[in-house]
Amino acid sequence: MEKRQELYAGKAKSVFKTDDPDKMVLVFRDDTSAFDGKKIVQLDRKGMVNNKFNAFIMTKLQEAGIPTHFEKLLGETECLVKRLDMMPIECVVRNVAAGSLCRRLGVEEGLPLNPPTFELFLKNDALGDPMINESHVESFGWAKAEDLAKAKELTYKVNGVLKALFAEGGMILVDYKLEFGVFKGEVVLGDEFSPDGCRLWDAQTKEKLDKDRFRQGLGGVIEAYEDVGRRIGINFDA
Ligand code: TMP
Repeated sequence: MEKRQELYAGKAKSVFKTDDPDKMVLVFRDDTSAFDGKKIVQLDRKGMVNNKFNAFIMTKLQEAGIPTHFEKLLGETECLVKRLDMMPIECVVRNVAAGSLCRRLGVEEGLPLNPPTFELFLKNDALGDPMINESHVESFGWAKAEDLAKAKELTYKVNGVLKALFAEGGMILVDYKLEFGVFKGEVVLGDEFSPDGCRLWDAQTKEKLDKDRFRQGLGGVIEAYEDVGRRIGINFDA
């Protein structure tokens, strides 16, 4: 299916209409941003790597019974997805303390979290993606209460599937962010799952293999993403 008019350009992906009103094309660009878009650079091969990474993960999640918007790969940097009515919120699960949790609560990076935490953030760069709670979502009408409850249930279900997948590759899934939308009344996982939106550490050395390499200026960003992908069985040359 061919892409038509551009609907929206995000920080790392662009979204295009197709001739089917229920389908869109996602184009993964090489742009890499952090700190709510304050730091942006182009990283060679990133669009291709994240497109194939996302396709692999979305397929695994679908096989585990989690509804996702992913339909099929269209090319090196493009895939076809269902057009969802997106909730403007980010669902974050944390298995280990890192990032903003450490800054907010003064806890040490690496502290195991049992049970894993569930947090909500409003997607709003100008406000710095503020943390919100379930009552805000309802009061401001960002999602129906039952849809949010479903998104939360699916976010935890993703944890079971992906913690095991990354563990098999010798990695710890520290935390991740998911975005959901509604398609014909059903709550469906949208956006992407790639090392841009999660934290992954080598289980032995605790080396960071995700976007923290970019945020913290550690270098070797795309090499780390490819290493993660290969360890879970992705062939980026296919
Ligand atoms: P945080 O520690 O900055 O709150 O992020 C938690 C996880 O969610 C981390 O894996 C990065 C991801 N995330 C995004 O991908 N985009 C965002 O806008 C935010 C706030 C977090």
